[in-house]
Amino acid sequence: MNELKKSDRAPYLMCADDVQIGDDVSIGAYVVLYPGTRLGRGARIEHGAIIGRPSQSNPGSVAQPTVQQPTDIGERTIVGAYAIVCSGAMTGPDAYIGDHALIREGARLGERSSVGFSCTVGSKCVIGENTRIQGFCGFPAGTIIESDCAIGPYVVALATTFSPNGRTPDGPVVVRQGARIGSAVQLMPGVEIGAGATVGAASVVTRSVQPGMTVRGTPASANVTRDG
Ligand SMILES: CC(C)(COP(=O)(O)OP(=O)(O)OC[C@H]1O[C@@H](n2cnc3c(N)ncnc32)[C@H](O)[C@@H]1OP(=O)(O)O)[C@@H](O)C(=O)NCCC(=O)NCCS
Repeated sequence: MNELKKSDRAPYLMCADDVQIGDDVSIGAYVVLYPGTRLGRGARIEHGAIIGRPSQSNPGSVAQPTVQQPTDIGERTIVGAYAIVCSGAMTGPDAYIGDHALIREGARLGERSSVGFSCTVGSKCVIGENTRIQGFCGFPAGTIIESDCAIGPYVVALATTFSPNGRTPDGPVVVRQGARIGSAVQLMPGVEIGAGATVGAASVVTRSVQPGMTVRGTPASANVTRDG
């Protein structure tokens, strides 16, 4: 039985027997490493982080718990204090997961990607290489953010419109390579932000944005109204 047991490797560490820990890994106090966790060489796990947490859904959720999957933390990746990385998630090397972040089941974080303080990355989200996401963002299940994107703080992608006749179908948001999303932007369900596009701070994006275009406002558009 592969249960959590106390381990002497770090203060108050709880660790399953099958956890694989590479060379030069540092582990803080009060860390929990669930079955199937693999920590790549040089990874740093800060105090109170939980890795490989089994799938759980709240009462009333339509999502079914999934079976425990291996959870891979890439070489030299940092997992911040009190971050939770769920079963089946994985990061490439040199990734960064901020303090208090939640990375849900099966999410994929690319090499050198960064997810800031208190972000939520939903199940099966994909975050590309070199993409940097600042603090307090939220991405529902299935969101795709390709490589080299810059996402400001408090950006939220939405999963359902609540609208019976919305033009944009519910579905995952896709942010293409090199796009930049300003602070506090709301991305409505199903929109695609084209490669290299820019979205101004505090915009609500209700339609897909063409590659290379700059949009701003609510609803976000390329038009800028100037007085005089
Ligand atoms: C949208 C943005 C890229 C436009 O930059 P820009 O092309 O240099 O635009 P300007 O500053 O010349 O502004 C052009 C017009 O757009 C307006 N505008 C600029 N940003 C806006 C925004 N976010 N929402 C609504 N209108 C905006 C300006 O008021 C100006 O209108 P005016 O001429 O009538 O006064 C930029 O303003 C922005 O929002 N960047 C995001 C910054 C951010 O959130 N960074 C996060 C990481 S810290």
